[in-house]
Amino acid sequence: MASSLLTSDSAATHPGTAQHTSGPRTLAQRFDAVRAQTEHLCVPLDTEDYVVSSMADVSPTKWHLAHTSWFFETFVLGPHAPEYVSPNPRYAYLFNSYYVQAGERHCRAKRGLVTRPTVREVFEYRAHVNEAMRDLLERLRDDPQHPAHRLIELGLHHEQQHQELLVTDIKHVFWMNPLRPVYRERPQGASLATTELKWRSFAGGVHRVGHEGDGFAFDNEGPAHREFLEDFVLASRLVTNGEYLEFMRDGGYERSELWLSPGLAIVQDGGWKAPFYWEREGDDWTEFTLAGTRPVALNEPVCHVSYYEADAFARWAKRRLPTEAEWEVAARGAPVEGTFVESERFHPAPARATRDGEHALAQLYGDVWQWTQSAYVGYPGFKPDTGAIGEYNGKWMADQWVLRGASCATPESHARLTYRNFFPSDARWQFMGIRLADHA
Ligand SMILES: [Fe+2]
Repeated sequence: MASSLLTSDSAATHPGTAQHTSGPRTLAQRFDAVRAQTEHLCVPLDTEDYVVSSMADVSPTKWHLAHTSWFFETFVLGPHAPEYVSPNPRYAYLFNSYYVQAGERHCRAKRGLVTRPTVREVFEYRAHVNEAMRDLLERLRDDPQHPAHRLIELGLHHEQQHQELLVTDIKHVFWMNPLRPVYRERPQGASLATTELKWRSFAGGVHRVGHEGDGFAFDNEGPAHREFLEDFVLASRLVTNGEYLEFMRDGGYERSELWLSPGLAIVQDGGWKAPFYWEREGDDWTEFTLAGTRPVALNEPVCHVSYYEADAFARWAKRRLPTEAEWEVAARGAPVEGTFVESERFHPAPARATRDGEHALAQLYGDVWQWTQSAYVGYPGFKPDTGAIGEYNGKWMADQWVLRGASCATPESHARLTYRNFFPSDARWQFMGIRLADHA
């Protein structure tokens, strides 16, 4: 069954290419665009693809489609549309992810065992929620101060996060299939030379970091606060596959002095010899992409590396990872541009040479999330919201690292200077890469 048969009414507004969700549009228009984009990402899929969970971190596509609808149902329609009736009250149990205060929930590890509701029924659920949300948005149109606006905005950014997870999760699902299916064809890249890496200097001192002012941000991006930085330098572009291969060929994965102790244990016990999705073919390496298996391109950013690998590479290079404050101070003023999901490349792209007048740092946004050496903790004065919605970010501030920038699976309108992504040290299935830093 082709997914085009399954898409709900929100996709009817979709022209067949990814929609940009930025721009001065109304909340109702942005709601339609974001909901349609989620379904647009499903167009290459067939029914069987929607159901599989290929590892503990991976949720089925069907679950992402339903969970993002559950979010609007639970946090917007529940409190603000008293006439709303769910098509199945048990969906609240099936599609709650981790919100303890929102009630009991299905076990995450068993999401891939759920064949009902069917894919078609999940699309019908989305259409049902869309219809109720459009009615509510119409009612709210002349009441911009209504508290539901903020929750709808949060729901849209939440759905964009799941759009990225949908892409990275289906990549892992396809990787687990020996046929190595293609999600979206991509022309072979022209062979480009690797752009020269330059070291850009930034002045230390007391800097203001974190979100302030108008515009959406997650609660974990604030409060804005002062941080003291020493003078530092940042690499002008991301670490390439070619540079990472030098690390590998220099025994990088075997040299214990390069590794944090838990990282070395994973390398040894898990047999890590290369980034995730890489496979050896004779003397060469290939990598699995959403366009199928390709030779590793030396000038593309290295991708699908864990914090441990990023840290070991930096130590081998006699550099270090940036702190998140350094990244933010250095990136301030740079345009939010790069290889985002709208490119439909679904793979990071080589850096191009910086032109005169451009920001000194290339590849700040898009391509791959950049590991920092900053632990994911609350900023000074951080207070999560009260109630279940306060569980969104705050309760995950343990044993994770901050990543900055955005990736080739991130919607462009979802990327911003103060965004704090976060993952544990051993996570590799997201589009994660490396930008080096050093003391000045
Ligand atoms: Fe979620």
